[in-house]
Amino acid sequence: MTRSMVVGNWKMNGDKAQAGALISGAITSQAETEAVDIVLCPPFVLIQQVISGCSGSKVAVGGQNLNLNTSGAHTGEISGSMLSDQGCRYVIVGHSERRSLYGDTDTIVGKKAALADSFGLRPIICVGETQFERERGATNSVVERQVQTIFDEAGPGIFPNAILAYEPVWAIGTGQTATPDQAQEVHGLIRKLIKQYSSSLAENTLLLYGGSVKADNARDLFVMGDIDGGLIGGASLNPDDFREICRATQV
Ligand code: 13P
Repeated sequence: MTRSMVVGNWKMNGDKAQAGALISGAITSQAETEAVDIVLCPPFVLIQQVISGCSGSKVAVGGQNLNLNTSGAHTGEISGSMLSDQGCRYVIVGHSERRSLYGDTDTIVGKKAALADSFGLRPIICVGETQFERERGATNSVVERQVQTIFDEAGPGIFPNAILAYEPVWAIGTGQTATPDQAQEVHGLIRKLIKQYSSSLAENTLLLYGGSVKADNARDLFVMGDIDGGLIGGASLNPDDFREICRATQV
């Protein structure tokens, strides 16, 4: 794997002014760091602004979620076809906040990943264990179950178009980053799970780490053999921090 990827998940943050600054920052980062693919995932209402602002640059845009349906009576929801129609190329699927707060089960996550793929969107599929599960020694079995359900529902054929993000729930927004060794161990496991189907799929699938990635810890994580980049929450809202994280992929 030679290319890296850094994805900014703005979550439910940002307004037009802040989006403007983040777009400029991402375009600068992309221009100075050729070998990284930068993706911005703003809230739905800012997608058009980000797509227009990034046009002519290599920065790509993604949604943060999609509905399981294509259209119809689903007040407040957005479909994959709508994201695609707006010019999105990616969509985050199965973020732990969607799993814990909005009922996205493993099966729903697998179905959403397949649906995203069918609309030409590259799904960025999140997996990861809770603090409780890690303390019980269940990290590997939880991640295996989550990844297996993606294979069952979407088929291994969605890789390497699909991207997997390991986001330990206990590390998200807590400042408690997984150590590079902890992250590498799970990334190695995920790579092995994909390898059951095909070595080339495993080699060519991007595996991102997310959970309190900051400018000062990104390099130590990205240097690990199976970590191909990051899915960034809080630090993606600061153009300087995001730029440093993008630079840190060049290790
Ligand atoms: P933080 O970087 O704020 O911990 O968030 C990680 C995340 O959830 C990205 O999807």
